[in-house]
Amino acid sequence: MSMADSQPASQKIGVVGGGRMGAAIAQIFAAEGFHVLLVEPNASTRAGVGARVAEICRARGQDGSAAARVTTCEEIDASLAACALVVEAAPEKLELKQEIFERLGAACGVETILATNTSVIPVGDIGARAAHQERVVGAHFWNPPYAVRLVEVVQTATTSAATVERTMALMTRVGQMPVHVKRDVPGFIGNRLQHALKREAIALVENGVCDAATVDFVIRNSFGARLGIMGTLEQSDLVGLNLTLDIHKVILNDLDRSTQPQKLLVDLVAAGKTGASVGEGFRAWSAEEKAELQGRLDKALLGAKK
Ligand SMILES: NC(=O)c1ccc[n+]([C@@H]2O[C@H](COP(=O)([O-])OP(=O)(O)OC[C@H]3O[C@@H](n4cnc5c(N)ncnc54)[C@H](O)[C@@H]3O)[C@@H](O)[C@H]2O)c1
Repeated sequence: MSMADSQPASQKIGVVGGGRMGAAIAQIFAAEGFHVLLVEPNASTRAGVGARVAEICRARGQDGSAAARVTTCEEIDASLAACALVVEAAPEKLELKQEIFERLGAACGVETILATNTSVIPVGDIGARAAHQERVVGAHFWNPPYAVRLVEVVQTATTSAATVERTMALMTRVGQMPVHVKRDVPGFIGNRLQHALKREAIALVENGVCDAATVDFVIRNSFGARLGIMGTLEQSDLVGLNLTLDIHKVILNDLDRSTQPQKLLVDLVAAGKTGASVGEGFRAWSAEEKAELQGRLDKALLGAKK
């Protein structure tokens, strides 16, 4: 029996925002037989959602039938009422997300879980104006979500245990790997770790210790080579915590502690050097280099997780 056959009629999923993340999240649920209603205000993006979902199906080695289970509409309305879950994947702006959650709170039944895919904004702030805040939760997917399968399920001060449980069960059901984040801290777990590393990486370049290419070379060819196999705390346990303690006594006081974006980053952005898509960011990029790296990443991630 396929997953589609086993769906109760109410197992409809809503997605708000049909950009990079929203279209991919819609594909993940549609591929497992759910009917997805995707809200996207931009007409040309909305028109392209079907093709994008079909493209992800192909990249995952699936037939394109999931695309037929994704329907689109322009705005949030009562057609989302019967959804088991709505995932918001609109731009990373607090005001906009608050308004979306206020509308979702009014449009959806009290049983509908209202989840945000925000990268770093506290989930409680996003849901502050929504009715029935016990069903508001974070569901932070990673890009691309069909290949990097972790989802951080973030519990706010008001999220009910049942909401967390149901969200985690739905994620598991579509092949994602949910973890429960018990406190609503900005950036949750993964982005806090990622940006702690990035802050130190920028400081090393800014302080003339090495260039950007060297930072990334060191990461990829030292501890980064181990990270996919062994987490950082496992690594400490394996070598002995006394070594970590001795190292921290020497190094912690010297690590970067910037509490605002660093000058190097601010200056690059101000100069229009925003990264590979414009040919320059922390380093110079040709179009071929950008395509080669993206292709190698996609192949490695999808090859491992298809
Ligand atoms: N791109 C990533 O790597 C990534 C990873 C994890 C989480 N996120 C988070 O996911 C969210 C979406 O990111 P993205 O990269 O898909 O952005 P995106 O810009 O590709 O897509 C956002 C979409 O939302 C639409 N939109 C604008 N206003 C809207 C509204 N009022 N209602 C509904 N839709 C609206 C836009 O037209 C656009 O299509 C953000 O909160 C982001 O921080 C992004």
